[in-house]
Amino acid sequence: MDINKIRADFPLLKEWVYLDNAFVGVMPKQVKEGYEEYIDLWYNFSPPGDKTILQEWLSRATRLRGKIADFVKVKPEEIAFTTCTGSGLNIVVNGMEWEKGDNVVFPEWEHNALYTNTTARHGVEARVVHARNYRFELADIEKQIDDRTKLIQVSHVSYVNGDTMDLNALTEMAHEHGAKILVDATQAVGALDVDYRKSGVDFVAVAPYKYLMGPTGLAFLYVSEENIDQLTPDRTGWKNQIYEGDNPEESVSEGSAEKFEYGTIHFQGVFALEKSIDYLSAIGTKNIEKRNLELAGYLYNGLIAKGKGMYTPDTPTSPIVSYFENDPLPLAAKLKDMKIKVTGREAHGGHMRISGHFYNTREDIDKLLSNIP
Ligand SMILES: Cc1ncc(COP(=O)(O)O)c(C=O)c1O
Repeated sequence: MDINKIRADFPLLKEWVYLDNAFVGVMPKQVKEGYEEYIDLWYNFSPPGDKTILQEWLSRATRLRGKIADFVKVKPEEIAFTTCTGSGLNIVVNGMEWEKGDNVVFPEWEHNALYTNTTARHGVEARVVHARNYRFELADIEKQIDDRTKLIQVSHVSYVNGDTMDLNALTEMAHEHGAKILVDATQAVGALDVDYRKSGVDFVAVAPYKYLMGPTGLAFLYVSEENIDQLTPDRTGWKNQIYEGDNPEESVSEGSAEKFEYGTIHFQGVFALEKSIDYLSAIGTKNIEKRNLELAGYLYNGLIAKGKGMYTPDTPTSPIVSYFENDPLPLAAKLKDMKIKVTGREAHGGHMRISGHFYNTREDIDKLLSNIP
């Protein structure tokens, strides 16, 4: 990995020590060019060949669907475009059949917790798993599961302290009880080398504006092929209508996760996201994960050497490292004035969350460490 060449693609890094990807990622110039390509195409109305502009947008979306599938190691027909992580989670929750007395299980720190208007309306019980030593133990999750558990929601990587869930073990445990696993992987994809087919999970919702480096307004949902026909689309439009009306030739009603897309998607985001997937794929997700864990380990050890109380429970398993801090907001503001970007959070007694990415260096981390008390 030629780090100097990589850093030249992120002009912002000339000025900033940016360690806040769990909040919002940094955009490389290639992703900006993706946005611009979309604007130019529309502004000049210049789709290639005899295509309409909509056909060009749709074919770019199809191409991206394949690239995303390769990136997370699933099949293209298992990917649906959505607008945000929550949109994917809702498609799953609202598309399932619920009965009074069913239950859903989720850790107390989920970013978008699964207890929804739909589950409440159906009399579904919400069972919350509490953290022990700042992590969610499989044994504690197991205690909450029974044969009425329909869905378990977990984050692959915790946005609070970066702890990583063992999805393979969780899936095995859940499937024994007939429960499905819904994963929020917004803090994982782009940061780690993920394989959602191998992990056996049922559904994965991802927003790309953090570790995938853009865009906002476009996100995606993985629905494993076994689940596609079991889930009913919770909203309908020209793209997935079952009524054979004006647009039957474009409608997708069964057999593909595309059936959950109901209208015009955020095509500008499609152009941008394709660039970031290309960028990260060229470096390789294994290489990115390795570098991220190496840098996070260096930071973790540096914080321990400074005597900090660690919120991240053990040697990091993701790029996110958190430590306790009584006055997190003034410290984050002071660092921001010095062009060092991290997050200070008052939640959970106060902590600092530091989240680098592969383009960071040990010098970035040294600069942070030397500027925290
Ligand atoms: C774990 C996690 N999921 C989801 C989101 C964002 O949700 P959405 O894409 O629905 O806005 C965040 C944002 O910080 C997050 O940390």
